[in-house]
Order: sequence, then structure tokens, then C-alpha cells
Amino acid sequence: MNEMKKKVMVSGIQPSGDLHLGNYLGAVKNWAELSDEFDCYYFMADLHTLTVRQDPAALRRRTLTQLAQYIACGLDPEKNTLFIQSHVPAHSELGWILNCYTMFGELSRMTQFKDKSAKNSDNINGGLFTYPTLMAADILLYQPDLVPVGEDQKQHVELTRDIAQRFNNIYGETFKVPEPYIRKVGARIMSLGTPTSKMSKSDPNGCVFLMDSPDDIARKFKRAVTDSDRENCVRFAPDEKPGVANLMNIYSSVTGKTFDEIEKEFAGQGYGAFKPAVGEAVIDCLRPLREETDRILKDKAYLESVYKEGAAKASYVANKTMRKVKKKVGLVAQS
Ligand code: TRP
Repeated sequence: MNEMKKKVMVSGIQPSGDLHLGNYLGAVKNWAELSDEFDCYYFMADLHTLTVRQDPAALRRRTLTQLAQYIACGLDPEKNTLFIQSHVPAHSELGWILNCYTMFGELSRMTQFKDKSAKNSDNINGGLFTYPTLMAADILLYQPDLVPVGEDQKQHVELTRDIAQRFNNIYGETFKVPEPYIRKVGARIMSLGTPTSKMSKSDPNGCVFLMDSPDDIARKFKRAVTDSDRENCVRFAPDEKPGVANLMNIYSSVTGKTFDEIEKEFAGQGYGAFKPAVGEAVIDCLRPLREETDRILKDKAYLESVYKEGAAKASYVANKTMRKVKKKVGLVAQS
């Protein structure tokens, strides 16, 4: 395919916690499959994590680990632009400008802001409030067609579209108006402990981290919640048996087996056999990723070359958009 015609995608994950199975199966694994078809930009959204207090050393460690994990999960740095958000200053610059084109009312309506301010009532800072304008900048700088995100980020992408359209209406065509790209199947991996909520790092017992040891993974799956009925039968019925459906979804994602095949495989065996089998399949799937991540993390020079090259490639594109924006709003060009 002609390089020039590839559609552009951009997405980021905050390095605010270690990557987990939900991030992998719901996002990163699929991103790797899109590398040939799209021109992809993926970054560690380190600036976004500052909206909540971080331990500085841990943030640095998680940012680099996340980059190593992206690569270990199949995101080839030759095919994808992988970078650290704070290495491309255009994100902060455009974020400020877009703040001036985003309404207080719009930001007040963001459900993530409402949730996060309820959870961090002692630190409802300006960054938490303007988080979506920085995200809009992250996106619009790269003029993407699609933004792969989870369902929970859809409102932010919609706001991004509104901001882009508003800016374009005032100044003429400046930003491409992107679409959210939300996958239907496999996308929502739920907590092993509370299968009605999304797998999340804030619920460590229901969450399988990519760097968890095989013993930890096995233990978490043995304790996974199935259902409260006495049926004890592996059957896909998400409304009645959300825990079982989630385990089937995970098993299907890591083995490639269909729900039908899974039901047949465990016919007459009950949850006692099914839960450890899912655990084993996940251990087998994550082992090479963990080993590869460890190997890459030890190769500091390689990791550094990846993020430096990524930032250079991203900056080139981002700065092009930045020059256009500055000119349109009336900032004096330096040269
Ligand atoms: N807000 C996203 C999340 O919490 C992370 C993010 C930041 C992002 N900037 C982005 C996602 C730009 C897509 C595009 O999941």
C-alpha cells in the first residue's frame, strides 16, 4: 500500500499503574495487529498522570517499563511511532491553546472528571479539570483518522471532535476531525473479583498484571468469582453469569478458541477445572511477554534509541500542526 495513503491512528495509555491483562487483550495486542495497515502513534501519557500525585521514581520506572512492554507485546518500533508524551513539548503547547477554545461547562460535564474528583477530593487541581484538552491536543497534533480507545474514553474523543470543529469553524480547516475506534469483542476484560466492573489496577486482586509471577496468576484465577447459581457449568451467558462469561472471554482471547469450543471442552467438568485452566492459558500467554520485557529493560541503550527516535518522528508531525495553529491564532513566528 502507498505509504502516503495509510490512515493515521493515535492513542496513549497513562503509566499510572502497571499494564494488566485488560490493557493487553483490550488494547495493546490489537494495536500490534494494526501496524501494517495504519500509520500509528502510541505514547506513554506521562503528563496526564501528574493530575494525581505520583511517586517520581515509580513514575519513571513505569513509563520505561510500559515502553518495553509495548515492544514486547508486538508493537514494532520500526513500524509504529512509540514515544513519551513529555518528550514532545507540542502536546503541552497545543493543550494550552485548546484550553482557550474549550468551555468551562463542557469540561464540567466530563464523567471522568466527576469520578476522579470524587475519588481525589483533597486534590481537585486544574490539571484534572483540563485533562481532556491535553488529550485533545495529543490527538489533534497528528491529524489522525481514528483514535483507538476504551468505551470510558469515548466522551473525551467526542469533546476532541467538538473542539476541532469549533477551531476549524473560526479559522478554516486546521484539524482533521477524528473518529473514536472502539472494538466490540474482547475489548472489555472485567475484574476477576467483581466481574461487573472493568479490570482495573485499583482492584489488585481482580487484576492480572503483565509482570505478575505465574504463581500469582494461578492464585488470582483460582479465586476468580464465577456465579452464585449452583449450575456449575461453563456456559456463555453474560447477563446471568458475568464471571463465567469474563473467564470465557479471556480464555478465548488467549487461546483463539470459540465460545462453542470452550463449552464443549469443559462439558461436565465445572468451574473447579475451568478456572485453573484459564489461569494456565494466561500464564503461557504472558510468560514470553514478561521475559521479553525484562530483556528489553536491561538494554538501556536500545530503549533510549527507541524513545528518542519516536520523539523525533512524532515532533516532526506535531510541529507541522503547531506552526499552522500558531499562525491561525495570531502568534508571531520565530523565523
Ligand atoms: N485518557 C486516556 C486514558 O486514560 C489516555 C490518553 C491520553 C489517550 N491521551 C490520549 C488516549 C490520546 C487516546 C488518545 O485511557
